[in-house]
Amino acid sequence: MLNQADNDLLTRVGPGTPMGDMLREYWVPACRSATLEADGAPARIRLFGENFVAFRVTDGRVGFMQEGCPHRCASLALARNEEGGLRCIFHGWKFDVEGKCVDAPTEPGGQRAKFAESVPVRSHPTHEAGGLVWVYMGKRATPPRFPEYEFTALPSENIQPTRGIIRTNWLQGLEALLDSAHVGFLHSANLSSALGKALFKEESDYMLNDGAPVFEFVEQPYGFREGAIRQEGPDRSYARVREVSLPFFSFIPSAPTGSRIVCCSIPIDDCTTAQWYIAYDTDGPLERNILTDFGATSGDPDHFNADMGGPENLWHQDRQAMKDGHWSGIIGRGNAYEDFAVQESMGPIVDRTQEYLGTCDRVIYRARMLLLDAVKRFRDTGELSFAGDEIDFGAIRAVSFPFKKDEDWRDFDAHELAAIAAE
Ligand code: FES
Ligand SMILES: [Fe+2]
Repeated sequence: MLNQADNDLLTRVGPGTPMGDMLREYWVPACRSATLEADGAPARIRLFGENFVAFRVTDGRVGFMQEGCPHRCASLALARNEEGGLRCIFHGWKFDVEGKCVDAPTEPGGQRAKFAESVPVRSHPTHEAGGLVWVYMGKRATPPRFPEYEFTALPSENIQPTRGIIRTNWLQGLEALLDSAHVGFLHSANLSSALGKALFKEESDYMLNDGAPVFEFVEQPYGFREGAIRQEGPDRSYARVREVSLPFFSFIPSAPTGSRIVCCSIPIDDCTTAQWYIAYDTDGPLERNILTDFGATSGDPDHFNADMGGPENLWHQDRQAMKDGHWSGIIGRGNAYEDFAVQESMGPIVDRTQEYLGTCDRVIYRARMLLLDAVKRFRDTGELSFAGDEIDFGAIRAVSFPFKKDEDWRDFDAHELAAIAAE
């Protein structure tokens, strides 16, 4: 439960809001790299309540600038993309990859170049990594260092980024990504299906057998590590160790080797959020297809849940399927659709003054407190949390594994477990 002021502080991300200003100081995924073709169509991108276009110029570099033309606001999504820049189709003004106006052909010859130079253009630096175009929308003259997670260093065949879009606030999205307690309930039908068993291996049985794991936390400079500990008989326990790299990323625990998934919740505006599900394999080409795994039927990697329905049809919930034994009735569509349905069902910005939290919500509470501290510190001092130079982003990896009663899950290292499993 939060008071209204704190709920507003955490959830409002428009220009000039404390959280909006803070979140703009981190590199965020804007679109898939594959979306942008050299000299091809610009992509419309909405982030933090503002509209932009991303475009790839002739030499392969990517630009990111305001969608509305600096002249009279025609959409640059309509622009020609030619010879190293975007040319507005209305009066032909041209903008290069750095966002500078390089031609204003409606001006008389003598002053044309000088006039073009004077046109104010809003653009932001980009960086391509992990099959994604990332953008820095903050205020620093030099962008902060890019967080080099292990997935961002992989070649394109080892990684598959996909995006879902939900009609809720970013924090609702993030909280669902942190919430281990729902898995054995909301996703129980999927976990016990043949596909679920194949994807989650022995994990599915642990999660189904114990709906009330003990949650333990280890503070990290990037956020925290959460162990969900379940008992398996008198001598063995099972840990699912989630890595939370605030403010956006949740690394989902999986077996020590094989493919992994990282998710993030990126604000499109106060009431719309991009939820990226990024599958990757550090050891070789990715063999799974995350869209098929999710049962996503829209076929669109930029909006894989386009056909999920909404409050008007209760997200296509099937009551007959529930009578026949399916837990959620949101059938045949994998975990993400179930997650999205419950997130949207809370309303665009959940009223956290109305909640009643239990033991299973410790992770939610912890994340909120860390984010509240961070946003207040940023507002009052300009200091940015979760981004210190000492952080080794590349070492962050979430894993699940059994361990003996006399051992401590905190002593296990995901990379060592992978090396042992590969022997
Ligand atoms: S509105 Fe773009 S050139 Fe005039
Ligand atoms: Fe879920």
